[in-house]
This record gives sequence, structure tokens and C-alpha cells, in this order.
Amino acid sequence: MKIVALLGSPRLKGNSAFIAEHFLETARNLGAEIQSFALNKLTYRGCQACRACKKTSETCILKDDLTEVLSAVQEADVIVFSSPVYFGDISGQMKNFIDRTYCFLTPNFYRDPENSSRLSSGKTAVWILTQGMQDTMFNDVFPRYEWVMKIIGIHKVRLLRGCGLAKQDDVLSCVDVLKQAEELAVHLMKAGVDNDGARGP
Ligand SMILES: Cc1cc2nc3c(=O)[nH]c(=O)nc-3n(C[C@H](O)[C@H](O)[C@H](O)COP(=O)(O)O)c2cc1C
Repeated sequence: MKIVALLGSPRLKGNSAFIAEHFLETARNLGAEIQSFALNKLTYRGCQACRACKKTSETCILKDDLTEVLSAVQEADVIVFSSPVYFGDISGQMKNFIDRTYCFLTPNFYRDPENSSRLSSGKTAVWILTQGMQDTMFNDVFPRYEWVMKIIGIHKVRLLRGCGLAKQDDVLSCVDVLKQAEELAVHLMKAGVDNDGARGP
């Protein structure tokens, strides 16, 4: 099982990264192959709307630090999108990454939404969102990106949400979400092993 994690917070020891690391560590101990990218450390631009990926190329023609990341996502079974909530949305680092996944859409995605994606089927997205305010606020963020996941071809989408986490280490007292992260990792690893068995000779 290949897991690629996109860390969207500039705080690499912050709440969202801590939950992501807890999930990844559990999966790693169960045999997953992990690749983790701290988006804030990379140099890249958002989508330039050149539409080359709809006309002449199957991939994004921009060559920057996201080239490797986009290619790793194509190879992954599970993709972790972890981000703080900033002004009612995901971080800018994560949004610019998401915009670049436009290259995963087929040229005909408007007219043929059933075949909108170039990604292989069967991928799972794990979304990790943390915010300072309570859980009654900003619960519109995830459904918007759940829609994005579906159109780019990732149909199984799970959410781990940490609320009331204003300070960097508030997550340490948020045992519920850490337990959920652990359980989700165990569940996905078990499902992956079962699937591998089903595909076997
Ligand atoms: C620029 C900025 C904007 C923020 N906007 C919100 C917000 O709209 N709603 C909210 O609940 N928390 C907001 N926060 C708080 C963070 O979402 C919260 O501290 C989160 O747990 C940080 O995650 P991290 O530790 O992984 O960076 C904001 C923080 C910053 C720095």
C-alpha cells in the first residue's frame, strides 16, 4: 500500500501535521510505504490555466517542485490532504496544490462527468482539517473538497477533523481525533491487504 501525504500547514509540528503523522506512523507500522511532502517547503505556482493538459499533454507542463508530487499522487493508493482552516478555507499552500490537480481531469470532463479523471480507480483520500474554532463553524469546508476529490477521480474520501485547536500543541489533548486517525489507518491497511488478496493469482 502506497500512501502519499501532502502537509498543507506551514507549521510542521502543528496540529494538522501531528494528526497526519499519527495516521502515517500507524500505517507505516502495518507495512505501508509512505511519502510525505511539506508543501510549504516546496517552490511551485498555482495552475496557470494554459490548458496544455487538455490539448497537447497528459500531464502538467509546469516543471517545478510539484512535478514529483503530482506523479507520486498518481502512483498512490491513499492520499492524505492535511491542512489548517485559514479564513474559512484550506491553507493557500494546499489550495495552490489542489488547483494543479486540474491536470488529472480529462479534456472532456465537462461533458462526460462519469469519465472526468485520468487517475486510476480505487484511490482513497484522507482529509485532515484542524481549526481554532468549535465544530459548528466551518463545516462547509470539507464538502467542497469532497466534491473536488470525486471529480478528479478519488471516490473514497474520509475526514479527520480537529476543532478548538488554536495553539500549535492543542492537538495533544485531542485524544478522540488521534484515536480516529489510528483506527482509520488500521482499517485502510486491512482493506488494502484484503484487496491485494482479491487481485492475487
Ligand atoms: C492565517 C490564519 C487564519 C486562520 N483562520 C481560521 C479560521 O478561519 N477559523 C478557525 O477556526 N481557525 C482559524 N485559524 C486557526 C487555525 O486553523 C488553527 O490554529 C489550526 O489548528 C492550525 O493548524 P496547524 O497547527 O496545523 O497549523 C487561522 C490561523 C491562521 C494563522
